[in-house]
Amino acid sequence: MRCCHADFALTEGSDRGFTLGMPTFTFGRGVLAEAGDQARELGLARVALFTDRTLAPGPLVAKVRESLTAAGVESIVFDEVEIEPTDESLQRAARFAAEARVDGYVSVGGGSVMDTCKAANLYASHPAPFMAYVNAPIGEGRRAPGPVKPHIACPTTAGTGSETTGIAIFTLRSMNAKTGIISRRLIPTIALVDPDVTASLPPMAIASTGFDCMSHSLEAMTARAFPRRLNSAQGVARPVSQGANPFSDLLGTQALKLVGEFLVRAVTDPSDEEARSEMMYAAMLSGIAFNASGCHLPHGLSYSVSGLARDWHVAGYPAGKTLVPHGMSVVLNNPSVWRHTAHAHPGRHLHCAASLGADTRDARDDDAGDVLASRVIALMKSTGMPNGLSTLGFGEGDLEALATGAEPQYRVIKNAPIDVGRDELKSMFRAALRYW
Ligand SMILES: NC(=O)c1ccc[n+]([C@@H]2O[C@H](COP(=O)([O-])OP(=O)(O)OC[C@H]3O[C@@H](n4cnc5c(N)ncnc54)[C@H](O)[C@@H]3O)[C@@H](O)[C@H]2O)c1
Ligand SMILES: [Fe+2]
Repeated sequence: MRCCHADFALTEGSDRGFTLGMPTFTFGRGVLAEAGDQARELGLARVALFTDRTLAPGPLVAKVRESLTAAGVESIVFDEVEIEPTDESLQRAARFAAEARVDGYVSVGGGSVMDTCKAANLYASHPAPFMAYVNAPIGEGRRAPGPVKPHIACPTTAGTGSETTGIAIFTLRSMNAKTGIISRRLIPTIALVDPDVTASLPPMAIASTGFDCMSHSLEAMTARAFPRRLNSAQGVARPVSQGANPFSDLLGTQALKLVGEFLVRAVTDPSDEEARSEMMYAAMLSGIAFNASGCHLPHGLSYSVSGLARDWHVAGYPAGKTLVPHGMSVVLNNPSVWRHTAHAHPGRHLHCAASLGADTRDARDDDAGDVLASRVIALMKSTGMPNGLSTLGFGEGDLEALATGAEPQYRVIKNAPIDVGRDELKSMFRAALRYW
């Protein structure tokens, strides 16, 4: 590829292309009210509206439903989405979808809601045993056999970017770890990204989802470059996550600049509408970026942290069950991972640190991991994040179990810029126990 950076130079046997998928998106204040028009434009007469129990009685769902009604589109509500979905909750949603006799879907919520809606749409459109579409080697990794029904995604958090991705993540209870279903066919048809939704988000949700967004871009830009990806399928079988590529670099760089400038403001000042709006935009950019490149170690490690956490609760998230918000579980491993991977690509790690606002003028290649880790730690401190995994109650005695939970996450771990085995996983978890 002549026009791009040497990182993307093709070698013998490289795939010569990369494929980018994204929805038609509309970004701007108040655009939730366009849901009805968009549904009518898609020719939908009756839709299933997915949301969670907290959001169901609130103004965001009401706004979308009113807009659908005004456009003559009937909506039936499914509000049983589980926050941090499981195989069981996805199957419940899929049963609802199969019986709902709808011609399209609208999701109003965070990643949990949008992911549940994507999975329900897939299983209702192409019925199959649950593990058929789940990522291999945990599931069969079967490709979605055809198009799914139109989906209008309305994110209400500023972080996952799920409104732009072909990914649905859930916890597989039998393994106590997260995995997912991934297909370009799951990318929502339309995304309505309305920063006004963030007004009601509690500070810890802004912080956690903001770090999810940050990590999506950091991982997209430090992933194995696409010509060297391990899954070499091409054409329509080309994987959704193809490794770092020029387009992900472009969007990721801009998203990191926004995170560096606006995350702390968005968390610490609830009246700062500009900061929240910029974070909403950054989340969307990061979503498009990591959908095309894939995540790697911070997400791979986070899946066993969220699966193994005991007795951890965060204000603004459903009470009554142990829950480490996704973005929190991801950022807790971040500094440790960057110290471990930077030697593979110091220039990229330094570029990420500089985009996030670190002063890299005197930094040498050997400093790259520390420079990026320090910038992430500074953001964690300023936003009230826990000081490493030990704050959640993890210790030396949990390292084996944490590594065991992370090891099967091949899809993301093999996308890392370096090869890691069980010993490296353990040492990254050890270094993530405490940061300051
Ligand atoms: N599909 C993807 O590409 C992708 C990417 C990253 C993360 N995820 C997944 O997304 C899930 C996390 O999603 P999330 O972080 O968006 O949060 P979430 O959907 O789990 O919601 C978290 C909490 O915030 C509440 N909430 C949502 N919007 C609100 C609002 N505007 N005001 C007040 N409260 C609100 C919810 O009711 C819930 O209690 C995880 O399962 C994660 O693995 C998916
Ligand atoms: Fe994420």
